[in-house]
Amino acid sequence: MFAFHFFMSIPMGRFRKKWIEGKWPEHDEPHPPALPKYIHFQHLVMMFVLGFTGLAIRFPFIQNGRTTLRYVHYVAMVIVIATFIWRLWYAFASKRRDWRAFAITKRDVKSLLGVAAYYSFFSNSKPHTDKYNVMQKGTYLVFAMLMAVQALCGLALLEFWKIPFLGITPSSLLLGWWLAPMVGGVAMAVAWMRTLHYSITWIFIIVVTVHMYLSATEDIPVTLDFFGFGSHDEAEGDHGHETVPVPAEEG
Ligand code: HEM
Ligand code: HEM
Repeated sequence: MFAFHFFMSIPMGRFRKKWIEGKWPEHDEPHPPALPKYIHFQHLVMMFVLGFTGLAIRFPFIQNGRTTLRYVHYVAMVIVIATFIWRLWYAFASKRRDWRAFAITKRDVKSLLGVAAYYSFFSNSKPHTDKYNVMQKGTYLVFAMLMAVQALCGLALLEFWKIPFLGITPSSLLLGWWLAPMVGGVAMAVAWMRTLHYSITWIFIIVVTVHMYLSATEDIPVTLDFFGFGSHDEAEGDHGHETVPVPAEEG
């Protein structure tokens, strides 16, 4: 699928423009602040660790050290939840709060068809609205929602440890009052949460793979800069794709 998508960029002229002539998209904000880049990196490392250890917990493809794998998942889950809260704080409450960059506006909705047409090679121009286009914004919002649900259903799997002072397990605390009565007990509720946690794992794997593919093919200078390697020089830039400004909403 990715090979086909990448191949399509050759007849459309995007391959030549980007990789041979070196014309990558231009950006209004050439150097994003360092903190979100760092948070993204720490988050992605933890997501890989969680994905790997999670799958190893479910499928015993690693025989030795299974207890250690579980503990690595527990440590990484605490770090990833802290990282997630840190990013939410940055987005909503820090000095450089950037939640607006992710908010989908009317202009974004109008640009949806155009953006979809660009990614599926029906058009060679990408509508330009904000820092992120509507499909990026949508993806990042989906990431955030999935993270919240994944964290909650993950914590609900902790049925063998009692929270100090409360004296009940996280499973009972999170599921005991709503799902357990509906499905016939905490054990059944935990089984449902395990299925949900596992399904979201696959959604993450699929969406992150697309996200990695697009970051590697759409805009290499931004990706390198985002990971702290070099920086893209705006002075040399020419629009690698013809961006079409979407008119601002009136009134
Ligand atoms: C966000 C915070 C997370 C928490 C609190 C969490 C918590 C847990 C817990 C408590 C378990 C059960 C471990 C055991 O049986 O000993 C588990 C299993 C698992 N986790 Fe997570 N996890 C989190 C994130 C993730 C992420 C991001 C992924 C994958 C991308 C993931 C994939 C899995 C998988 C595949 C399993 C095995 C499920 C099964 O047995 O079917 N987890 N997780
Ligand atoms: C090797 C894996 C990954 C690569 C190469 C990558 C690459 C990138 C790049 C280049 C951007 C910046 C886009 C721009 O500024 O135009 C970005 C943003 C973003 N990525 Fe990733 N990413 C990876 C993994 C992940 C994972 C695992 C997640 C979450 C599950 C994630 C969530 C996000 C989010 C939410 C943003 C929005 C900006 C921000 O967080 O500050 N990425 N990614």
